[in-house]
Amino acid sequence: MTRADTPALDVQDLRYAYPDGTQALHGISLRVEPGEKVALIGPNGSGKSTFLLNLNGIFRSTGGSVRVFGETLDDRTLGSIRAKVGLLFSNPDDQLFSPTVLEDVSYGPLHMGLPRDEVLARARDALAAVGMQEFEARAPHHLSLGQKKRVAIATVLSMGTPLIALDEPTANLDPRSRRELIELLDRLRLTVIVATHDLALVADSLPRTVVLDGGRVIADRPSVDVLNDADLLFAHGLEPLSLHGHPHA
Ligand SMILES: Nc1ncnc2c1ncn2[C@@H]1O[C@H](COP(=O)(O)OP(=O)(O)O)[C@@H](O)[C@H]1O
Ligand SMILES: [Mg+2]
Repeated sequence: MTRADTPALDVQDLRYAYPDGTQALHGISLRVEPGEKVALIGPNGSGKSTFLLNLNGIFRSTGGSVRVFGETLDDRTLGSIRAKVGLLFSNPDDQLFSPTVLEDVSYGPLHMGLPRDEVLARARDALAAVGMQEFEARAPHHLSLGQKKRVAIATVLSMGTPLIALDEPTANLDPRSRRELIELLDRLRLTVIVATHDLALVADSLPRTVVLDGGRVIADRPSVDVLNDADLLFAHGLEPLSLHGHPHA
């Protein structure tokens, strides 16, 4: 295989069961090329979050494989895979734990062993990218939800990973915060996977859509096809955008 053929992500028959025995993923296969922006949609409980948490080894699969830029996730490669896959949790409070915004955004590069000035440069670049540079001395837990989400994204960007996976990035944001976040996503020149219920975001920014239900891939098609397939959407707990009067539908 030549280097140009190496996918950003190559997941084969991924299975995952929670410790209580709940089988959340029933054999997911998905290949994503470098630079692709992919939506992961599906009803609550379909396995979107579980899937994303398997991509950088926070959860360890009970079957199948995850390859990131040609490297297979296992005990030996965990550190290296985490330098390739950045993960935004759906709840920013799960991602922010330091006394200040700057410390939170510095945490990743610091623990990658980068020199202090490089850490600071990366942290400040990431804060600038999300428009939060004025907030570096603030306490993350005192920020608004939209600001927390932006800082949480900065903690991912500061790692410099070529692939980022975002779990419900626009959930509960007001319209302006949501628009700013979408513009930020549009600017990213990375491989991006977004789990979301925000089908307008999918229509505008994510050309390919994977539909999950019951821990299985139901469809994997151009977003425009999926979004116009009302039967498919209704069958999996979703609704066509036209019902919300969205102009792009
Ligand atoms: N900590 C947990 N323990 C047991 N089952 C869980 C846990 N978290 C999620 N699940 C189950 O795993 C399945 C997939 O959940 P999840 O990945 O959170 O779905 P989604 O993100 O699409 O809403 C669901 O059946 C859910 O109930
Ligand atoms: Mg979820």
